[in-house]
Amino acid sequence: MTGGDKFYVTTPIYYVNDIPHIGHAYTTIAADILARYNRLQGNPVFFLTGTDEHGQKVEKAAQERGRAPKEQADIMVGNFKGLWDKLNISNDAFIRTTDPRHIKTVQGLMQMLWDKGEIEKRGYSGWYCTPDERFWTEKDLVDGKCPDCGRPVEQIHEENYFFLMSKYQERLIRHVEDDPDYILPETRRNEVLGFLKNNTLGDLCISRPISRLSWGIPLPFDDTFVTYVWFDALVNYFSATRYLAPGAENARLGEFWWPATHHLVGKDILTTHAVYWSTMLMALNLPLPRNIFAHGWWTVDGRKMSKSLGNVVDPNAIADKYGVDAFRYFLFREVPFGLDGDFSEEALVRRINTDLANDLGNLLSRFLTMAEKYFDGAIETPAAYLTVPNEFATRCIDMTGRVHNERDWSHLHFNLILETIWELIRASNNYIARTEPWKLAKGNPDGLKRVMFDLWNALRLVALSIYPFMPATAENMWKQIGLKALAGEVMQGRPEIFAWDWMPAYEIKISKGEQLFPRIEKSGEHVRKKEQKKEKAHMAEQGVRELIGIEDFAKVELKVGMVISAERVEKSEKLIKLKVDTGEERQIVAGIGKAYDPECLIGKKIVVVANLKPAKLMGIESQGMLLAATDDEGTLSILSLDRDVKQGARVK
Ligand code: ME8
Ligand code: MG
Repeated sequence: MTGGDKFYVTTPIYYVNDIPHIGHAYTTIAADILARYNRLQGNPVFFLTGTDEHGQKVEKAAQERGRAPKEQADIMVGNFKGLWDKLNISNDAFIRTTDPRHIKTVQGLMQMLWDKGEIEKRGYSGWYCTPDERFWTEKDLVDGKCPDCGRPVEQIHEENYFFLMSKYQERLIRHVEDDPDYILPETRRNEVLGFLKNNTLGDLCISRPISRLSWGIPLPFDDTFVTYVWFDALVNYFSATRYLAPGAENARLGEFWWPATHHLVGKDILTTHAVYWSTMLMALNLPLPRNIFAHGWWTVDGRKMSKSLGNVVDPNAIADKYGVDAFRYFLFREVPFGLDGDFSEEALVRRINTDLANDLGNLLSRFLTMAEKYFDGAIETPAAYLTVPNEFATRCIDMTGRVHNERDWSHLHFNLILETIWELIRASNNYIARTEPWKLAKGNPDGLKRVMFDLWNALRLVALSIYPFMPATAENMWKQIGLKALAGEVMQGRPEIFAWDWMPAYEIKISKGEQLFPRIEKSGEHVRKKEQKKEKAHMAEQGVRELIGIEDFAKVELKVGMVISAERVEKSEKLIKLKVDTGEERQIVAGIGKAYDPECLIGKKIVVVANLKPAKLMGIESQGMLLAATDDEGTLSILSLDRDVKQGARVK
């Protein structure tokens, strides 16, 4: 075990009665991002996922297929393991609640609670929802049905064992209040606190009579009962530290791993974790996890995902169609972790075409093409480039620093981290636009070398930064920019690799490979474009082209303007607010923020439509517009002048 803080992250253990879908993939990829990032930091990491295999649903599914429950579970587990392989999930262990060691741990802890008087046997009657395996009180019911799923409930009277949860209510409130990071995000924490303060916590029924359910772990002190599935399931987080964690055979190391750093869960199972699990640990005198993070819910095309609607998104299919890394990126860039999100292939394609193909893919391929053309693939690295950072390098250093913002990582602000990385990518694209290497190539070899080195180093930092999110892409970039070994391995525990002046001990020769993210033409778009073309051709044949007269054109007043100041519009990726001198000063808001950095616009001469009615963009008035060209690759270029003409001059 090497330096750094121990990092133990878990996902829920998923029910094996379902086929994995996008929601399961979501939590597991989140845990993977954290695990990979922490390994890079040199922290000892234990990343656990697994399956929840006991209970009525599995028993029933097995019966229907004439199988033993364990046999049924074995088959279903393969779906999860296969998906995690495909999605490049780096879990250190996979726990199954049917593991003999887990069963022993559950029984050991049960016995302990029984011996301590934390468990009591009582008569009980309540309303039971069979599919959800949950009891409800009369007043919980909605129209006499399960408040959770709306299905019918049955009244059941029986003797059962109860965990005396209610006595921990006050202590739990205090714990959540004292530690603002125990439950995240904050809105969820407030919900839990509200619930705890406004309700009287009951005791928790933790057994099921074998007559009703046999597929469970027998109680160690009464074998006519099995444990309630949640008591069995929650314990997985602890039992794994005793037999699956790195070095767990050694008792001291087993103890080293508990408590978990983050339990990642969906908001659907926050109560079971925040209330049941926390109080179980209190009763057992075990430390509580450092954090329980409840993320939001994915809907699909605006609707709840469900088998009956037939809109369950299969992550296997999405990964096959669009690539694993594009899928991983999308899930964490599109929606802040913690909020609900809506999945659609359109939104995914949009992200691929803009962020991945246009910003990232283009940057790499432009750089590689130039490196081959100008220097036959060699990148020179004189010491001065490393130790005397220019303005661009200074910005890269600053942005890379922000990628490591500690609070963003400890609070799981994945989308903000990705935004910062994309700032770095866009700044690099702008650096090419500003320095125009193709011009330097005609007479300024030193300038060109420097620019190419800067871009190389920026790409290296981009590859490192995206590694936790898109590990395969990071490795691919790493190789293409001429670095040997695996990025993930070179990085492990070497934070200095994120420094501007880190250098490999060998000469750099790039090796251009396949394009990272080719643009995806939507089939619909294709057809539409074809039809438009046909229509135009047809009209041309007939000689009907819509032509305008010179008097129409003369209505448009075009003027040369000089940019005096430029700044980004807050909360907008696209909009930049400009002050432009066109003979008089005017404010223009332009949607060029993805292609240009505000700083590099200042002093530029541009062409402005001067007699346009003012309009408001995000509440800011725009007096006119500037002219820019976009091609169907999405490359945007502002029209500028190739001789110096005074501002205010008419363009005709
Ligand atoms: O609850 N959006 O297992 P489960 C986002 N076995 N995340 C989703 C989602 C969606 N639409 N649907 C599912 C169980 N998830 C128990 C857990 S833990 C000790 C026992 C994710 O198979 C999310 O993480 O129903 C949610 O909490 C989990 O899958 C539920 O998985
Ligand atoms: Mg569920």
